[in-house]
Amino acid sequence: MTNLHDLLIQRRSIRKYKPDYLKPEEVRLILEAGLLAPTSKSSRAWHFIVVEDPQVLEQMSQCKAAGAMPIAKAPLAIVVAMDSSKDDAWIEDAAIASAYMQLQAEDLGIGSCWIEIRDRYQADGTPAQEKLEELLGIPETMPIVSVITFGYKDEERKPQNVEKLLWENVHISKW
Ligand SMILES: Cc1cc2nc3c(=O)[nH]c(=O)nc-3n(C[C@H](O)[C@H](O)[C@H](O)COP(=O)(O)O)c2cc1C
Repeated sequence: MTNLHDLLIQRRSIRKYKPDYLKPEEVRLILEAGLLAPTSKSSRAWHFIVVEDPQVLEQMSQCKAAGAMPIAKAPLAIVVAMDSSKDDAWIEDAAIASAYMQLQAEDLGIGSCWIEIRDRYQADGTPAQEKLEELLGIPETMPIVSVITFGYKDEERKPQNVEKLLWENVHISKW
C-alpha cells in the first residue's frame, strides 16, 4: 500500500481511460471502500449502482448539460444514491463514501473522476437525477449525489503541488 500522504498528493481527477474492464477483485475493493466509509449515526444509507454496459454509460453521460462526458468512455461508473429518509447528513455521507472509493482506486493505480449529479440539470432544465432514475431504475425518493467514473488511466496528470496549498485558509485559534 502507498503511504497515505503520497497517495493524496498523487490523486488527480482522471477523465480518459483505457477501454479494459477492471478486474472483479478491483471492483470489489472499490465497493468495499465505499461500504467502509463512516456515516452520520452509522446510518449507512448509501446505495451503489455499478454500471459497466457501454451503451448505458453513453446515455448516462447525457444526464446533464456539461461535465458528464467522462462517463461515456469509462469502463465502470458507480452511482451513489442515498436513502435520505434515514439521516439528514446524507450529502456528507455520500461525499465521504465517494472519496473513499476514489482513494481506494488510486491505491490500485486506477483513475477516477467525480461527476456531480445533485442540483445539476440537462440543457432543457430536466434534473440529471431524472435521467439516471429512468436509465437505472433508481427510486425517485433516493437522491443521487455523484457518479464516480473509474478506469485504467489513459492520461498523465501532474501530482498536486504542495508548494501551492492554500495555507492562508488555515486559521490558528481564531479567524
Ligand atoms: C463535489 C465535486 C464535484 C465535481 N464535479 C465534477 C463534474 O461534474 N465533472 C468533472 O469532470 N469533474 C468534476 N469534479 C472533479 C473536479 O473538477 C476536480 O476534483 C478538481 O478540478 C480538482 O482537480 P483534481 O481532482 O485533479 O485534483 C468534481 C469534484 C468534486 C469534489
